[in-house]
Amino acid sequence: MRTILLLVSVSLVMPAVYSLDNGLARTPPMGWNPWERFRCNVDCVNDPDNCIREELFIQMADIVAVGGYKDAGYEYINLDDCWMSKERDAQGLLQADPQRFPSGIKNLADYVHAKGLKLGVYQDMGTETCDGYPGIWGHIETDAKTYAEWGVDYVKMDGCHRLGPKLFPEGYKNMTLALNATGRPFVFSCEWGVYQPNPNYTDIAAHCNTMRNYIDIQDSWEQMLQVLDWYVSKQDEFYLVNGPGSFIDMDFLVVGDFQLSFAQAQAQMALWSIMSSQLIMSSDLRKMDPQMKEILLNHEVIAVNQDKLGKLGKRFYNKNQFQAWTKELDQGCYAAVILRRARNMPMNFTTTMEYLGFGSNTTYTVRDLFLHKDLGVFGPTDPLSVSVNPGGVVMIKATPKPIKKFVRVY
Ligand SMILES: *[C@@H]1O[C@H](CO)[C@@H](O)[C@H](O)[C@H]1NC(C)=O
Ligand SMILES: *[C@@H]1O[C@H](CO)[C@@H](O)[C@H](O)[C@H]1NC(C)=O
Ligand SMILES: *[C@@H]1O[C@H](CO)[C@@H](O)[C@H](O)[C@H]1NC(C)=O
Ligand SMILES: *[C@@H]1O[C@H](CO)[C@@H](O)[C@H](O)[C@H]1NC(C)=O
Ligand SMILES: *[C@@H]1O[C@H](CO)[C@@H](O)[C@H](O)[C@H]1NC(C)=O
Repeated sequence: MRTILLLVSVSLVMPAVYSLDNGLARTPPMGWNPWERFRCNVDCVNDPDNCIREELFIQMADIVAVGGYKDAGYEYINLDDCWMSKERDAQGLLQADPQRFPSGIKNLADYVHAKGLKLGVYQDMGTETCDGYPGIWGHIETDAKTYAEWGVDYVKMDGCHRLGPKLFPEGYKNMTLALNATGRPFVFSCEWGVYQPNPNYTDIAAHCNTMRNYIDIQDSWEQMLQVLDWYVSKQDEFYLVNGPGSFIDMDFLVVGDFQLSFAQAQAQMALWSIMSSQLIMSSDLRKMDPQMKEILLNHEVIAVNQDKLGKLGKRFYNKNQFQAWTKELDQGCYAAVILRRARNMPMNFTTTMEYLGFGSNTTYTVRDLFLHKDLGVFGPTDPLSVSVNPGGVVMIKATPKPIKKFVRVY
């Protein structure tokens, strides 16, 4: 019962969110990025289909635009490291690699915009990017202007080859101002918290639309759980800074890559959604398995991620290899995810609306968001039992059931 009291008291305290005020990321940004899947593959001679070049982004934009992804909310087509030329031009301006991006970034932005999508670039708050391309150091205002001239919509800022614990955050803050000064709205996606010892997340949220704070995800269930556990360990801190304008970034969705099973892929989608992380796919959309695609396009799960209150879902239960999260949604609704961290067999998890911390004295219609099926109507103490697969989740949404008014018909 202590759990319930805690949940209730937390939801009464309005979190003090001082998020970046640029009108963007009112819900977690969604899109695609090549990094986890394609890395810094620049060998277009031997591997033309998988190297970082403009064709790859054009192909992904084409698929996102017409393959159902755009309709589901995926919007940003983002470059990551290795898109640049190794040198700035004679004026000190950034330029794309001339062999791999012969049409230039402005043309790519125009192409992506014509598909109803948006384009992101990658930079690094240091002297070089992680893979040795020109960093932003000494060029903050110039690069912000360049991105604006190209029509870029999103800037991801890494932190390799950074200069000192004082200058590093100062650089991010200057970049926030420089982007703002261009007059063009940019989603500013920061990896500030990954590199800064004892980061001040309030400060980060005030300057960034998304906050990467931990290691890179890999195509691995264990690594996915490691990332999840780290964000959960700091959930009380993130709860206070997460909200419209600034969302945590638990790194890429690896759904549809090689390692996650069907159940594990559902788990990543459910957990990243309930924790209100930004949702950036990193997979080969050209070869997407239809079942995995269905997970990525699950509009009921995405709606939990995109809920307009922007609250962080929190883990409140961790026992007997079950873990459970709840998230408060708009209109008095709630979502919950139950994860089973076992390797044996499906097992039932039995709970009640009251134990989940959903508003007391209310009756809810409960829906399973992967089965797309209503499970019934539950009062505060009615038992709800769900079967959870090993390495899998059950995700539910509870909608308050309007109290039936007795209407006399004459
Ligand atoms: C940030 O901008 C201020 C004001 O222009 C400047 O004095 C300072 O050197 C800049 N710091 C960094 C790290 O770019
Ligand atoms: C710049 O910042 C101001 C104040 O924070 C905000 O109102 C405005 O929308 C921002 N403009 C852009 C283009 O980000
Ligand atoms: C963190 O940053 C916020 C906003 O800039 C500031 O008000 C607060 O004092 C900082 N906290 C610490 C511990 O430095
Ligand atoms: C639930 O409803 C009962 C009866 O109307 C009322 O006495 C009780 O205080 C309510 N409990 C809460 C937590 O609102
Ligand atoms: C286990 O959960 C399933 C629903 O997933 C339900 O049909 C079944 O009755 C439950 N079994 C028990 C013993 O509660």
